[in-house]
Amino acid sequence: MTTAVPPSPAAARTDLSVWPASARPAPDGDVAVGGVPLAEAAERFGTPLYLLDEYEVRERCRTYLRSFPDTDVLYAAKAFLCHALLHWVREEGLGLDVCSAGELEYAVAAGFPSDRIVLHGNAKSPQDLEAALRLGVGRVVIDSAWEIARIAAPVPAGTRQKVLVRVVPGVSAGGHVAIRTGTDDQKFGLSVADGGAEHAVARILDQPRLELVGLHCHIGSQITEPGPYVTALRTVVALLARIRDRHGTVLPELDLGGGHAVAHRPGETALDIPALGARVRRELAASCAGAGLPVPRLAVEPGRALVGPAGVALYRVLAVKRTGARAFVAVDGGMSDNPRPALYGARYAPRLVGRRTTAAPRTATVVGRHCEAGDVLAADVALPGDVRPGDLIAVPVAGAYHLSMASSYNAVGRPPVVAVADGRARLLVRRESLADIRSRDVGL
Ligand code: LLP
Repeated sequence: MTTAVPPSPAAARTDLSVWPASARPAPDGDVAVGGVPLAEAAERFGTPLYLLDEYEVRERCRTYLRSFPDTDVLYAAKAFLCHALLHWVREEGLGLDVCSAGELEYAVAAGFPSDRIVLHGNAKSPQDLEAALRLGVGRVVIDSAWEIARIAAPVPAGTRQKVLVRVVPGVSAGGHVAIRTGTDDQKFGLSVADGGAEHAVARILDQPRLELVGLHCHIGSQITEPGPYVTALRTVVALLARIRDRHGTVLPELDLGGGHAVAHRPGETALDIPALGARVRRELAASCAGAGLPVPRLAVEPGRALVGPAGVALYRVLAVKRTGARAFVAVDGGMSDNPRPALYGARYAPRLVGRRTTAAPRTATVVGRHCEAGDVLAADVALPGDVRPGDLIAVPVAGAYHLSMASSYNAVGRPPVVAVADGRARLLVRRESLADIRSRDVGL
């Protein structure tokens, strides 16, 4: 076993390993992302602020396409959704995974071709299904036997809706219990072990208005190794073979979902995408050869790994307080823009930016401005000992599942999003104002 050597304070201050590749130390202790100094962005757009590095997103899309040739790479829109981002991923050649009528309408309104969109959901509402059919979604992923007839009923006679069946392969993987979906003790999918998946397949094959094109499986999120994907893949290929044997139907598609881990702090493990691509494709070819099946068209659905590391959250310090042994650094955002620490115990590596300091690091807890003690953004992190109100704190790896899960708690309003590229910053999503929040309240 090797013992990790803690980085020296100076190294820790300059370690930008989990930041976007464009991140550079800038004059006066600042950091620039996409060529834009963070202090300048804070000045221009205010705080809290989210920055999204356009080239980082595009480069991550390209890494997937290179690592998974002959594969449909679908961006999981739940990670973060806005018009510009949809435009970038579509331009790069990706499809899309959505899980509600809202995400679907958003994407189609932004010009995303509906036939390249896959609709998920363990409990699709009538509105979800109506939107899917009206907008001509490419594939609907069936998640329960109950929805088979509901999806088929409104399909116009003489046409067929393409569907996949989401199966649960019995693989436990993922960074937190709330984001593990590969075993039978959670709400998603149809079990391979208890025959639920095969039963659903038989029923769908009996529906003349549904075209079963393949199987889908998403085993969880923040998975750091290819191993669980390989195990799941073998189970799913075995099921494809049983379906062929029983029904004489060879399903042409296999969607392996997303869940590819990113590092939130220096030294953490990210899933190696080229290694995953090589391993999965090799195993798929071998399993199919073993079962005498043609290799199905593969799809993957990364969310976090495409946008997480491209995002940086920027906050202004409002208060610094010492109580007993702890130092609290309170910033102008919090659990309303990033609920992940409260939900999953997620850990981040915040950093002082916009000012030079030689003060020795001290352990501090970065908290938000919301009215509960659990509003913690980063517990027990090293920050310069002289951090004070007015300072800027940046949190890297903030591009996924922050703003898509943000709330208007305490009527604080959700932060704006700015794209950075080539030294320019442009507003993509404006700040949520009090007027926005009040406008939904229609009165007495
Ligand atoms: N495909 C399906 C069917 C999914 O349910 C998900 C995520 C993905 C793809 C994309 O997973 P990713 O590559 O982003 O891990 N809010 C949690 C994550 C929940 C993910 C839910 N499903 C978090 O902040 O960690």
